[in-house]
Amino acid sequence: MGFSEIPLPPEEIPGCDLPAIQVRPPGPQSRTWLLRNSVNVAPMGPRGAPGPRGKERPSGIVYSTGKGSNVLDVDGNRYVDLAAGFGALLLGHAHPRILKVLELQGERLMQALGDVYTSEPRIALCERLARLHPEPAQVILGQSGADAISAALKTAVLASGKPGVLAFQGSYHGLSYGPLAATSLRESYRQPFAAQLNPAVRFVPYPSSDGLLDLALERARFELVRGDVGAVLVEPILGRGGVVVPPEGFLVELHALARQHGALLIADEIWTGLGRAGEMLTSVAQGATPDLICLGKGLGGGLPISACIGKSELMAAWRQEHEVVHTATFAGAPLACATAIALFDILQRDSLVQRAKDLGAELGRRLRSVVEAVAPNASVRGQGLMWGVELASSGRGGAAVRLMRALLESGYIVSTGGGARDVMVLTPPLVIGENQLEAFVAELPLALQACGP
Ligand SMILES: Cc1ncc(COP(=O)(O)O)c(C=O)c1O
Repeated sequence: MGFSEIPLPPEEIPGCDLPAIQVRPPGPQSRTWLLRNSVNVAPMGPRGAPGPRGKERPSGIVYSTGKGSNVLDVDGNRYVDLAAGFGALLLGHAHPRILKVLELQGERLMQALGDVYTSEPRIALCERLARLHPEPAQVILGQSGADAISAALKTAVLASGKPGVLAFQGSYHGLSYGPLAATSLRESYRQPFAAQLNPAVRFVPYPSSDGLLDLALERARFELVRGDVGAVLVEPILGRGGVVVPPEGFLVELHALARQHGALLIADEIWTGLGRAGEMLTSVAQGATPDLICLGKGLGGGLPISACIGKSELMAAWRQEHEVVHTATFAGAPLACATAIALFDILQRDSLVQRAKDLGAELGRRLRSVVEAVAPNASVRGQGLMWGVELASSGRGGAAVRLMRALLESGYIVSTGGGARDVMVLTPPLVIGENQLEAFVAELPLALQACGP
């Protein structure tokens, strides 16, 4: 099947144009902005950004506008956005329906009073979210993915009474303290703060192939039998860890093990969920019924909002006699709740989850054939519209960063993953044009060749 046989969403989505590079990125305007950026923004921004004396050559660009799957930078270059805000823009930039909802809800109500006096959109969104869970469920809203993971970890300790967390090597769950303790992707994230992290977290290997399934489960069992683990935290597909799809049955067997040892299964669907990996919930599609499911990234249609959805019987552990013990000023703000409801409507109306599945299968086939031809040592992995190309390591790491830069010069925005940043990661909007994917796949061999092995 070719890309063109997959039905397009009925609504005309602007932003299906091909790249148009006027000036080699980063152009003069981007450089000027990046210089300003380097003065007052703490130095954790784009690598290669100029220092205060402007000596290093910047490697990044500065976004100006976004429409659908296109981004314009401040120099007027047009790109195809295959990163979509680290996978968060499921509907692309400035989806017309999201803009309309922002306008209407903005006029009505932007902020309520948290749990004290709530709002209609917040109640309606929680109903929609709870219905995603296969069992009766309740919801805690947050603003970031890390918020949702924190809420899930707190729920697990309240419900199980056990502080231990079992997590996976290569995983990424966010960088605020609770999630950071369970994030193993890069030691550099953890090392400066190690003394302040939950010491009861243990990591076991994530099974990257059928042959490694038994080993991963055995190591998990070894940790669980100690009896102090209350939460098993897992991504149904490793995202930032380099798009690693586990063998069939992994999550189901992991959940059975967790249950056997009195621990709850938390599925981190912040990246995979809501159609990104071609399913509404990848964990449920894999046959599991997680105790807790975390969503974030795409949930708000571009606005920051996240959710921890848990079985009602577990959420009951939050009931306290006198005090609210978990809240945040903007969690469940009506504006983001309204756009999240719109996201659900659009996913359903335009069959975007199925589109991601079909288009993704075709993209995977095309990527494999291109990569096999020009970079036979590279491997292609993924599902839905979440793909990774792991480049053969040159020993110095960062292979995907070089490819990312080469592609930027051709007008394609991609991101990188994996511990050594050697995986090129594609997470385009679910509304991406087939013409844009065609053009990207045609461009990729040149970029791969330009970067060398
Ligand atoms: C699987 C997963 N969990 C959690 C997070 C953290 O989300 P946030 O950056 O919104 O805190 C991310 C972010 O990339 C993620 O990929």
